[in-house]
Amino acid sequence: MNPIAHLTMSSPTLRVEKVSPTIGAEVRGVDLTNPLDEKTQEALKALWLEHLVLFFHDQAFSVEQLQRFGQYFGELHIHPQGDVEGFPGVVEVRTDASSKHISGHAWHSDVSCDQQPPAASILWLHQVPESGGDTLFANMYAAYDALSEQMRSFLDTLNATHNGRLSYGNYWEMSPEELRDGHYPRATHPVITTHPATNRKLLFVNETFTERIEGLHAAESDMILRLLYQHIADPKFQCRFRWRNNSVALWDNRCTQHLAMWDYFPETRAGFRATIL
Ligand code: SIN
Repeated sequence: MNPIAHLTMSSPTLRVEKVSPTIGAEVRGVDLTNPLDEKTQEALKALWLEHLVLFFHDQAFSVEQLQRFGQYFGELHIHPQGDVEGFPGVVEVRTDASSKHISGHAWHSDVSCDQQPPAASILWLHQVPESGGDTLFANMYAAYDALSEQMRSFLDTLNATHNGRLSYGNYWEMSPEELRDGHYPRATHPVITTHPATNRKLLFVNETFTERIEGLHAAESDMILRLLYQHIADPKFQCRFRWRNNSVALWDNRCTQHLAMWDYFPETRAGFRATIL
């Protein structure tokens, strides 16, 4: 069977190829650097909800063009660590020989420590290492679906705190004063959330931001979170994206987690990310 599915109804020009059975699709036949008509925007939104992360190649964006593409998906989100000057909603993602840290070194959904975590993120890389620097994505609907009925019912009753200190303080060594709000963002979210667009349930804890399951003893919370992180990291929920210069990934931040591999030191990997509320 031909693995290339043609999206005949909404946009005859888009060609879509799944990257794994569980998550991710590569989309061809669209130039994201140009303004997009409504039909194409709607087609991309439908594909994004269906495949959770979309990949594109050969998109030589400017930062303005990335910002415009992001705005098709909603209002841009201001990152706690600060945006690129003059481009609210856009952050720089760069790792080189002088770097001590990398964005996304552990599994996470972006900024889950915010009261209203972003719905989507769009990462464009204009410079990638010769090899390595892949991003891994995991499907949190699938992680939820794979749990037993008993475990789902137990988790369904729980809330967890997510704390920006774990990442921005402990890993990035940033003081609260250096951040967007002058303090580490902190929020409580259900351990099992329901996606507002698809109505599907998913697992919403991650090892970068989740601090504690409320109502459990600390040791119990640690134990359950460790179990869930091990479950989430099962390769059968994942796909892995190999970047080229000017590739783009657009992910649904509500139902996925991702991890960036830093296996290319001292080479440079650089680009910009737009995040949508
Ligand atoms: C991020 O966590 O947004 C960065 C992902 C990446 O650099 O691959």
